Amino acid sequence: MRFFVPTNIYIENDCVKNHADLLCAIGQRALIVTGQHSAAANGSLNDVTNVLNTGDIPYLIFSEVEENPSTDTVEKATEIAHKFNADFIIGIGGGSAIDAAKAVALLLVNPDINADEIHNAPSHPRNHAPVVAVPTTCGTGSEVTPVSIITNHKINLKKSIPHVIFPDLALVDGKYLVSAQKRLIVNTAVDALAHMVESILNVKSNLLNRMCPEYGLKLWGESKYALLLDYDCENSNKNDAIDTTNTTPIDACLYEKLMLTSTIAGMSIAQTSTAVPHGMSYDLTLHAGIPHGPAVGYFLAAYVEVCAKFVPQDVEKILSLLGLKDIEEFGEMLRKLIGTCTVTREMRNQFAAAMKENHSKLDLVPGKITPEDIDYIYEKSLVVE
Ligand SMILES: [Fe+2]
Repeated sequence: MRFFVPTNIYIENDCVKNHADLLCAIGQRALIVTGQHSAAANGSLNDVTNVLNTGDIPYLIFSEVEENPSTDTVEKATEIAHKFNADFIIGIGGGSAIDAAKAVALLLVNPDINADEIHNAPSHPRNHAPVVAVPTTCGTGSEVTPVSIITNHKINLKKSIPHVIFPDLALVDGKYLVSAQKRLIVNTAVDALAHMVESILNVKSNLLNRMCPEYGLKLWGESKYALLLDYDCENSNKNDAIDTTNTTPIDACLYEKLMLTSTIAGMSIAQTSTAVPHGMSYDLTLHAGIPHGPAVGYFLAAYVEVCAKFVPQDVEKILSLLGLKDIEEFGEMLRKLIGTCTVTREMRNQFAAAMKENHSKLDLVPGKITPEDIDYIYEKSLVVE
């Protein structure tokens, strides 16, 4: 058994400011990789630039990372990093920004790798520029995983690149969630939930690495009341922030707890990788434009149901940690949080056919999953128009 996360992780209020010395010691010139708006709005970008200014570290901001970052975006950011002579990359934002930062860190020191070839390039596990990750959503876990999911639109591919790129430093602060819309918090929290469930229902799960998802699921179960409170996923844009009027001691530190859970969920998949629901989600995002959290969440209850045939005690453990009585209640909770997803029959059949060939995910199922099981998961998870 092995447990490996080489990232230096800090989780606390004012985390970036508190660890300014560590951030400034990572390199001499930084490229900040982030999305268009949220890092400026939630204060994380300001926190990082204040520290860099005080530490006399020159930096440039690349704020063009889109949801599901593309090879084109990674290529553009890498060119800018080269011209600026950056020697380390700071990713600020959700999974998209941090994943893009990792890919830029790889290309920066490997000029022989073309961005469009990044999914096929041989892996150079340690050959990348240092990465600092400042997450501002509570789902990705990318700040503590070696994974970078990049989309190549030229070949319709959304997939993890094969390189192992753990950030050197992760600075995690729940205060960046305060200004986030509840829809974003719910969607990303569902992603974190999936990371932990898929880590346990996984052939790579063992007595050592289970400490992460088992503790994280307990935390998630404690936060679920606040996520569900007065939440209508069909009409959620009206909810600007989480309603914490249910003032239990849990809710007083809800944002920090959600961030902690998300980082623990990231540490979980850093050991086992994600499984079938994530494999199924990528087509839904790529071809139907569904955000990552819901795209994974739609498949989660049916995956748990199929796995209950192989490892019923693990499914029971997951439900018990979440404070749920059965799989039906698990599915009902997810429906309240993310609703349902409608696709055409043709799409669903195409997705199912592709999944039946996706052995990198199917081989992780803790039992002999059949083509009929896969059809069942699609049948149960998606509404066909
Ligand atoms: Fe995910």
